Amino acid sequence: MALLNILKYPDPFLAVKAARVETVDDGIKTLIADMTETMYHARGIGLAATQVNVAKMVVVLDVPDEEIPPLEGEVKETGYKRGKNLIALINPEILVAEGSIKFEEGCLSLPGETAEVERATHVKARAINQKGQDVEFEAAGLFAIAVQHEIDHLNGILFIDRLSRLKREFIKRRLKKAHEAAVRAL
Ligand code: NI
Repeated sequence: MALLNILKYPDPFLAVKAARVETVDDGIKTLIADMTETMYHARGIGLAATQVNVAKMVVVLDVPDEEIPPLEGEVKETGYKRGKNLIALINPEILVAEGSIKFEEGCLSLPGETAEVERATHVKARAINQKGQDVEFEAAGLFAIAVQHEIDHLNGILFIDRLSRLKREFIKRRLKKAHEAAVRAL
């Protein structure tokens, strides 16, 4: 396994549309293993192949079970263990999207930035798993949000593309400035 470099905005590759995977071969399995390691290393809950410079429709997700804040004085176990909800989705596709929720999202390609994004609350989706089997599943809550966020990446869409023009331009300007400052500092 190997750690991969995560592309950061304004890298133009983040706008590239990924191609469908024809065969789940060893190359794809290695990609999934490397993406999983990279996601955990970066403390993310999802990662799309586009973010690691590969234009293939592959995502990995490990979304923690939603936690209900404990009552005062109550000791509550989070119950979250890394790997518990780990899944890889190949050629994922949303079949049905219902409801609407606004949730504060972040992204490993937009370090330090978060914003409220409107998403569907429930989705029904189809994909191929890493064994090459067709899977159909329903998602709600944070899992549904993450699935939509990662599929957006495969279509070259970042969460800032779903904001109002004003908010988007503000964040883009700030990220470009930080990027230029980093380049100058080299
Ligand atoms: Ni992201």
